[in-house]
Formats: sequence, structure tokens, C-alpha cells
Amino acid sequence: MMNKNSSNQRLPRAKGIDMGTYYTPKECARKVKHLVLPQMNRKIVEEFITILGMRATFEEHNVPIPNKVVMYGPPGTGKTLTAFYMAQMLELPLILVRLDAVIHSHLGETGSNIRKIFEYAKATPCVLFLDEFDAIARTRESNDEVKEMARAVNTLLQCLDDFGDSSIFVAATNLENELDRAIWRRFDTKMTYSLPDEFSRRQYIELLINGFDGEAGLTEEVCGRLAGCSFADIEQIVLKAKRKAIIEHSPLTREHIVLSYEEYSPSL
Ligand SMILES: Nc1ncnc2c1ncn2[C@@H]1O[C@H](COP(=O)(O)OP(=O)(O)OP(=O)(O)O)[C@@H](O)[C@H]1O
Ligand SMILES: [Mg+2]
Repeated sequence: MMNKNSSNQRLPRAKGIDMGTYYTPKECARKVKHLVLPQMNRKIVEEFITILGMRATFEEHNVPIPNKVVMYGPPGTGKTLTAFYMAQMLELPLILVRLDAVIHSHLGETGSNIRKIFEYAKATPCVLFLDEFDAIARTRESNDEVKEMARAVNTLLQCLDDFGDSSIFVAATNLENELDRAIWRRFDTKMTYSLPDEFSRRQYIELLINGFDGEAGLTEEVCGRLAGCSFADIEQIVLKAKRKAIIEHSPLTREHIVLSYEEYSPSL
């Protein structure tokens, strides 16, 4: 169905809808330069990967391996990045499915699109990553096209139950409260993401400005100034500030950060 060796291939098209993008493990590795995870999530991810490396032992003990992960939390906190990291560590290709594309097709075909994607993942070991998962798994009550979406959710439930254990299913959402409870229960691994605390923020800022000529005490300054920002916000602001420093042939200063912060104006 799909050639494993070539990258960024499209999944089979359904009625002209792109359902996903294919990334080799190497491409996944390139996406994840550094991932800062709070200790709890790091532990969950590491344990998950360890378990998948011990399949035979788990079979001996008759304990099923986990392979359905849901990640939820605010934008820019590392959910998508974690999916790439997992694929890299598991040496599996990642299939990134754009659920809004699946759904914005003719509604009647949503179910069959979902089925096709899961059939592919059942037949070919991969990390099947459904981003913006809430788009499909909204509680049945809260949707306008109630009947259609209820059908799609039912299809999804069936697909999750029949998924087998050769692939990994990963879903990410900003809106965990809108997820259908029955779908929620299907996941064996749940991870909460939040805005970085001071410790993670410092760690991330150090990674970002490491090796770049900067004012003394800059990390502390930036760390205080960017409190409340997501990782993605911090990255953008620091990059902006570095650009300013470069065009001025100057070391990175507090002023560069302040200006960049104001220009970027993250929605806080
Ligand atoms: N925990 C993190 N560690 C390192 N970098 C991060 C982290 N979170 C976010 N970033 C940076 O922000 C970018 C966006 O992060 P990512 O796509 O993983 O966010 P997300 O949680 O999936 O957000 P959304 O809910 O909007 O999809 C990453 O490519 C990375 O550069
Ligand atoms: Mg994301």
C-alpha cells in the first residue's frame, strides 16, 4: 500500500482528501531536537517504551502491552512533539492524520475514512497519530450533526477495540472534557500537559540560548519575564530576540527579549 522507504508520502486518498502524512523514524528524530517533559510524563513515556521493548516477556506473563495513548493540555506544550519522540524511540514510522480533513469530507464518509486509516495501521506497524482528536471524539450530545457524529464515534470505538497490538495509537487534544467518555476509557496511557513551571522553563530557555553569546544572568531574566508562556511561545520569542541580536552584531540582551516579547504578544 505504501512504500516504507520513501518519506512524507500521502496516505491513500479517499475521495481527494489527504488523510495523513508519513514520517520515517529518522524524520521523526529530526523533528525532536529537545523535548522538555515534566518528570511524571517523562516517566510514563520511558516506561511505555521499555514495555514495548519487552513484548515477549509480557506475552509470557499474559499481561497485555499498552498501545493507546491520549495526551491532553494547552497548545504549544509538547503533545505533537512527544508523538514524534515516541516514534523515534520505537523506531516506527509515524502516520500523522489530520482529523479535521477526515471529517470535513462528506460527513457520511467520515466512518469509512476512519476505517481505512485504522486498517492501514493494523497491517503496517506504525505510530498512528490523530491530532486534534476532539474534532471526532466529541461527546455525542455536544455535536450539531448528532447522528452522523454518533456514527463516526461508534466506528472509532470499534476501530480502537479491533486495533490489535502491532501498532501504537496516539491521540492529542486541547479539549479533554469534550471527549466521549467511552472513547476515553479505551486508552491505557493518559498524559496531561500544562504550561511549563519555573523549572521546565529554565531548562528549556537554557537549551535555547545555550552556545549563543548573551548578557550575564540572562537566563534568569528571561525565565522571569516569560512566566506563563507555553514552550512554543518561549521558543518563538527567544528566536525573535536572537535575530535582533544577530542583525545588531550584538550579544543577546534583556532588551532583545523584552522587545521580542512585546512584538510577539502571546495570548496570555
Ligand atoms: N515540552 C516541550 N519541549 C520542547 N519544546 C517544546 C515543548 N513543547 C513545545 N515545544 C516547542 O513548541 C513547538 C510546538 O509544540 P507541539 O506541536 O508539540 O505543541 P502541542 O502541545 O502539540 O500544541 P497544539 O495543542 O497546538 O497542537 C515544538 O515544535 C517545539 O519547538
Ligand atoms: Mg499538536
